[in-house]
Amino acid sequence: MEQYAIKGGNPLVGEVEIGGAKNAALAILAASIMTDETVLIENMPDVRDTNVMMQAMESIGAVIERIDRHTVKISGKAIRDLAIEDDYIKKIRASYYLLGALLGKYNKAQVTLPGGCNIGLRPIDQHIKGFRALGADVRIEHGLIIAEAEKLKGGHIYMDVVTVGATIDVMLAASMAEGQTIIENAAKEPHVVDVANFLNSMGASIKGAGTDVIRIKGVNRLHGTEYAIIPDQIEAGTFMFAAAVTKGDVTVKNVIPKHLESISAKLMEIGCEVEESDDAVRVVAAKPLTHTHVKTLPYPGFPTDMQPQITVALGLSKGTSIVTESIFENRFKYVDELTRMGASIKVEGNTAIIDGVSKYTGASISAPDLRAGAALVMAGLAAEGTTLIDDIKFIERGYEDFHLKLQGLGAQIEKVNSERELQKFRLKTG
Ligand code: UD1
Repeated sequence: MEQYAIKGGNPLVGEVEIGGAKNAALAILAASIMTDETVLIENMPDVRDTNVMMQAMESIGAVIERIDRHTVKISGKAIRDLAIEDDYIKKIRASYYLLGALLGKYNKAQVTLPGGCNIGLRPIDQHIKGFRALGADVRIEHGLIIAEAEKLKGGHIYMDVVTVGATIDVMLAASMAEGQTIIENAAKEPHVVDVANFLNSMGASIKGAGTDVIRIKGVNRLHGTEYAIIPDQIEAGTFMFAAAVTKGDVTVKNVIPKHLESISAKLMEIGCEVEESDDAVRVVAAKPLTHTHVKTLPYPGFPTDMQPQITVALGLSKGTSIVTESIFENRFKYVDELTRMGASIKVEGNTAIIDGVSKYTGASISAPDLRAGAALVMAGLAAEGTTLIDDIKFIERGYEDFHLKLQGLGAQIEKVNSERELQKFRLKTG
C-alpha cells in the first residue's frame, strides 16, 4: 500500500504552481456534454476525482481526448445512455452534476447516489427541490436518483441552505430549460462563477453568478467552446498554510489573490506576512505563530475545505484558538490523528478548542479524507522526526503531484510502496 513518508523540520521555501480548481473542473466536465459540439478545456487538474468523472462520462458515450496533461477535448455528441451506474462514480460527490447536465440536455438522467468524502451527512434535498421546481419528476430507487421531465420549464427556487452543489446543479439543468429560472440564496463560491462563465461561453444566458441571486434564461442549444479553468483556491490555501507551519517562505503562483482573501487574512492574524501580486501570493512565516478564532462559512467566508489546514497551524500557535465548523457536522475526525502527533485539541460538537503546543512529533497515521489528509501531511512536514501517512488515495483525489510539489519547496517527502522503500527513505533522511 502506498504511503507518504515525511521527515519533518525543513522550512518550505520557493515557488509552487497551482493547478486548475478541482471542484470547478468537475462541474465543467459535466457541463461539457450538454452540447453536441466539441469543447476544449484547459487547466484541467490531473487528479483522481476529475479522472473518475471523465471515465464515467466515457461510460455513457462521451468521447474524451487528452491533448496534453492539462488539456482535454470532449464531445458529448455520441452519448447513448442516460444512466450512470459506474462503480467508481459512487465515490465522488460531484457525480450529481451529471444529473443536472443530462437532465438539462436530454430531459432525463439516472445517476448512482453520490458518495464523496465522509465528513458528515451530505443530503441532496436542495438539488431535488430545484429539479422539481423546473418541472422534473425526481425519485430515488435502488440507490439511483432518477430525474425526468417531458419538458423542463424555468422556475423560482429559494435554496434553504447555501449550497455550492445544488446551486451549480440547478444552474446546469436550467440553462437548457424553457424560460427564466431564478435561484435565490445561491452559493457565491468562485467555482460557481467559473461554471456560469463556462456555460455562458457555450451560449447559455446566466446572470448574477457570484451574488445571492442567479438569473438564467434557458436556451435551446449550447455550442462548443474553449475554456481555461480557474486556479484552485484550496490547493493554493494548503500550500500557504504549509508555509506557515514550517516557518517557510512560499510563493503560490498562478492564483487569483482575490479568491484567497479570507485565507490570507487569517494567516496575517496569526503572524505571517502575506504579499499579493497580480497572480501570486507570497507567505512568509518569520515570527512565531499566535492564536486566533475562525468559523467556516460560505464564500467569501473562510472555506470549510481549509478547516483542517488552519487547525493544524493553530495547533502550533501560541495560546488558545477556537475553530467552529459551520458547514459540515463531522469534520474533525482527523483530530485523533493529530493528537497522536502531540496536538492538544478538544472537540465539542462542531467546535475545536486548541491549546497551541510548541511542536508536533512524527507518528504513523491515516488520512481520513481529502483535505484532512493534506492537513496531516502539513503536520508531518512541521513535526520532529518521521511521519508515515496511510490512505493517501484520499489526498490524490484532489492534489496533483502533491509530494513532488512539496519536494520542489525543499520538503523531505516520498511516496513509498514497501518496507524496503521506507528503509531507504529512513537511511536517506537520517
Ligand atoms: C462542495 C465541495 C466541497 C466543499 C463544499 C462546501 C465539490 C465536489 N465539493 O460540496 O469540497 O466542502 O462544497 O464548500 O464541489 N446541503 C443540504 N442539501 C443539499 C445540499 C447541501 O442540506 O441538497 C448542505 C450540506 O449538508 C452542507 C451545506 O449544505 O451542510 C453545504 O453543502 P454544499 O455546498 O452543497 O457542498 P457540496 O456540494 O457537497
